[in-house]
Amino acid sequence: VKVEDYGSSILYRLTEVFRVAINKAYPNVEWPPLLQETANRKHGDYQCNSAMGLANKLRQVGVNKKPTEVAQEICDAVGQNPLIKTLGVSQNGFINIFLDDNHSIQQFVQIAKQGVQFPKITKRRVLVDFSSPNIAKEMHVGHLRSTIIGDSIARLLEAVNFEVLRINHIGDWGTQFGMLIAHLYDKYPDFLTNLPKISDLQAFYKESKKRFDEDEQFKKRAYECVVKLQNKEPEFVKAWTLICDVSKRYNQMVYDRLDIKIEDLGESFYQDKMIELINFLKQKHSDFLKEEEGRLVAFPTGCDIPLTVVKSDGGFTYDTSDLAALKYRIFDQKVDWAIYVVDSGQSLHLETIYAAGRDMGWYKPEEKRVEHVAFGLVLGEDKKKFKTRSGETVRLLDLLDEGVKRAAEKLVEKGRDKVMTEEELKVAREAVAYGCIKYADLSHTRTQDYVFSFDRMLDDRGNTAVYLLYAYARIRSIFRTANVNQDAYDAFVRSASLDTLPLNMPTEQRLIKHILKLSDVIILILETLMLHSLCDYMYQMATLFTEFYNECKVIDKKKDGTEIVNMHRLMLCDVTANVMSKCFNILGIREVPKM
Ligand code: ARG
Repeated sequence: VKVEDYGSSILYRLTEVFRVAINKAYPNVEWPPLLQETANRKHGDYQCNSAMGLANKLRQVGVNKKPTEVAQEICDAVGQNPLIKTLGVSQNGFINIFLDDNHSIQQFVQIAKQGVQFPKITKRRVLVDFSSPNIAKEMHVGHLRSTIIGDSIARLLEAVNFEVLRINHIGDWGTQFGMLIAHLYDKYPDFLTNLPKISDLQAFYKESKKRFDEDEQFKKRAYECVVKLQNKEPEFVKAWTLICDVSKRYNQMVYDRLDIKIEDLGESFYQDKMIELINFLKQKHSDFLKEEEGRLVAFPTGCDIPLTVVKSDGGFTYDTSDLAALKYRIFDQKVDWAIYVVDSGQSLHLETIYAAGRDMGWYKPEEKRVEHVAFGLVLGEDKKKFKTRSGETVRLLDLLDEGVKRAAEKLVEKGRDKVMTEEELKVAREAVAYGCIKYADLSHTRTQDYVFSFDRMLDDRGNTAVYLLYAYARIRSIFRTANVNQDAYDAFVRSASLDTLPLNMPTEQRLIKHILKLSDVIILILETLMLHSLCDYMYQMATLFTEFYNECKVIDKKKDGTEIVNMHRLMLCDVTANVMSKCFNILGIREVPKM
């Protein structure tokens, strides 16, 4: 990621200040400026941790200095800087940085005037492979996790100006279609003229699988169907399309409810490309292939388990389609960055595919990012694999329905049904339900397993979507209560400057500094693709806002009963809400102005 405009980022500016200072103090050694936020406010806003390592490095070249001395020399080299109020050196050689409040306020004013903006990056083309369920087998919570994380990553990349291809690599090809089609012929013999309504594809899949496992005759027919499908016999292609459509229609209902945009480019798209790929490998990379018991396999550098590119019966595998997809993504879709949002269980498979791509010179890791964004399992409250009470896979639409029902109960519990119209309630219900499901997922470190619990995600205390949605609605309601004319407010913001903004209460200052950190959080996530950092940021924001709101009056009542609105504080409320709104958008959560 090449950042062109770091926006309000303080961390970046400080890093540059210290880079220059270290260079100035020690022109003959190279050492990076290491900056981070302080864990404890008492030690300032940020700290620079370069002095310890630098002192070591200096010793190697014969200069003996204590880390504290080195730290002091760096501070001297920084000198006066408008960003910084004071610098202090701790006993261990940390440099504590206290920001200049006026500078922060000026930055804040700029944000208020221009609107909240994300940092800008050099435009690149990036592909996000996410959701990617398999046809016939129903989409399950694992795919839901991929859907939520992938959508959020795509939203983030779009927000900072990437060109994003949102790709659904659905499992819509393979031998399982043989048994499905054979079963379709038996169950709905006139399916070509009389379109059957298969409402429960899951059950249909199970029935056909049972027959496939128990009935040799059926199994044989299933194989014949695969061959006919591969030979593109029209009737069989129709049967296949029909089955895919049922599945896709169901998935689309899930996507619609969750506001997910995604484009199908599944395994079936690579049929011909897999044939081409095998020819290409045989011609150009024969050294790469090995025959093993009738199979054609490849051992990419550093990988223990081979890829099976052609099975002994001549068929292709998941490996083959993923190799073909990688090649297509690099050479035809010409992406600079490919992100695969797939469960951790497939890590070995994907790493082997990427290694094969590198071996064949398809891409260089220093030029293109091709990466597996892995995530853990979704567990039930019993910490076991998430299942229904009867042990079945949970149907996603049922899960979403349950969420809406629970959200409705929550709103009633809070007495909201008495103050909101039916229309407002509907909006709030869905925003809460889908928002809480997404947030619960995104706020957990994605590489870990997480426990799916409606009780926990609908709790209005703690780091949950409900808490944040309430906080947001409350901030917006301050604006309504203040009853300030929009033009008057806009005029105030336009003319705002350091002198008109007496923002000097500690809670005001803290909230302002937090607002300025948005750019840093975004830039960090572009590296890590760990969205829980954004959730943490929002949660802290809501907490800081509450502290500010408890300490500072936005609307002041005079002794004679008249009210005055502290416009500068109203401005702080407004910008806070705008930042939250931007963040909600990246998380794919619909905020509600009234709740
Ligand atoms: N369909 C696969 C599954 O359900 C996920 C596909 C992920 N993407 C990929 N390019 N392999 O497990």
